[in-house]
Amino acid sequence: MQTICITGGAGFIGVNLVRKLLDNRAKIRIIDDFSTGREINLQGIEGQVELYRGDLRDTDLLKEALQGVDVVYHQAAMPSVPRSMEAPLKTTDITLMGTVNLFNQAAESGVQRVVYASSSSIYGNQPGFPRTEEMYPAPESPYAASKAACELFGKVFGTNFPVETVGLRYFNVFGPYQDPTSNYAAVVPNFITAVLAGESPVIYGDGEQSRDFTYVQDVVKANIYAAEKGQNGRVYNVARRDQTTINQLLEMVCKTVGADLEAKFEEARPGDVRCSYGDDRLFNKETGFTADYSVARGVRETVEWYRENLDYWDCLE
Ligand SMILES: NC(=O)c1ccc[n+]([C@@H]2O[C@H](COP(=O)([O-])OP(=O)(O)OC[C@H]3O[C@@H](n4cnc5c(N)ncnc54)[C@H](O)[C@@H]3O)[C@@H](O)[C@H]2O)c1
Repeated sequence: MQTICITGGAGFIGVNLVRKLLDNRAKIRIIDDFSTGREINLQGIEGQVELYRGDLRDTDLLKEALQGVDVVYHQAAMPSVPRSMEAPLKTTDITLMGTVNLFNQAAESGVQRVVYASSSSIYGNQPGFPRTEEMYPAPESPYAASKAACELFGKVFGTNFPVETVGLRYFNVFGPYQDPTSNYAAVVPNFITAVLAGESPVIYGDGEQSRDFTYVQDVVKANIYAAEKGQNGRVYNVARRDQTTINQLLEMVCKTVGADLEAKFEEARPGDVRCSYGDDRLFNKETGFTADYSVARGVRETVEWYRENLDYWDCLE
C-alpha cells in the first residue's frame, strides 16, 4: 500500500483529494496548519489519517511527516490574489519558501514524486488564448509570482535532485468544502451561499471577465493522473478550454437554485485578470487526462452539497 502525504489536506482541494485517496485505500498523512483549512473538513475521517499539525516551513515537522512517504500532493499555500496584494511578504514566505522547503525535504527523505499545485494566475493579462504551457509567465500579483517561482524550483528539483516533480496549473476550482465565509472567498461559494440565502451576490467589475471553471473532482483526478503518468519536471494546465463569464456563472447558479436575483456591482479588484481559459491538450496528450464535468454539472453538484450542508459553516468563528 502506498503512503501518501497531502499538504493543505484540511483545505478545500486537499480534503477532496484526501477523501478520494482514502477510497483508493492508500495510507494518508496530512500536513496542515489550519490557517485556512478547517477541522470540520476532516469530520468522520479523523481516525483514518495521520495528521501533522504545523507549518510547511518547519523543516523538523516535514522530516517527520515525510518519512516513508512515496508521493506528496502539495496543496498548502496562501491561496488568494487579493490577500497577496495586502500581504506580499507573508504570501511569498508561505507559498514559495514553504514549497522550496517541501521539495528539499522530499528529496532528502526519499519521496519518489511531488505533485504540486500551481495556478493559471501566472499567465497574467498577456495576449493569447487559450493559455498554453509554453507561454512565458507574466504574473500580476505576489501570489502569481510566488507560484511562477515555485514552478522554477519544481524544475530544478525534478532535474537536479533525487525527487520527481509535476506541477498543475489549476484554473478556478470549485466544489464541495470550498469556504464561503472568508473575506477572500472564491466566487462560486460566494454566489451559491448568497443565492441560497436569497441575497444579491457581489460582482467586482462589470461581470464580463471570464474564467475556466474546473470542478474539484476533475482536479482530484488530475492529481492522480499527474502522479501516475505525468512527466518529471513538467507543468500542465488543468483546464477545460472553455470560458464562462461571471455574469453567466451567476445566471447558472440562480437557475440551479431556482432563484431570480440581481447582482450588486462593485469596483474591480486590483491584481485580478480580465480573462482566463486554458489549453489542456498537453496534459491530455501525455497522461490521457480529460475533465469529466461541465461547469453546469459541477454547479449542480455543488449547489446540492451546500443545500445539504447549510449549517456547515455556522460553527466557524
Ligand atoms: N481554489 C482554486 O481555485 C485554486 C486555483 C489555482 C490554484 N490553487 C492552489 O491550490 C492549492 C489549494 O487551494 P485551496 O483552494 O484548497 O485553498 P485552501 O485555503 O482551502 O487550502 C490551503 C490549505 O493549506 C493550509 N496551509 C496554508 N499555509 C500553510 C502552511 N504554512 N503550512 C501548512 N499548511 C498550510 C491551509 O490551512 C489550508 O488547509 C493552493 O496551493 C492554491 O494556491 C487553487
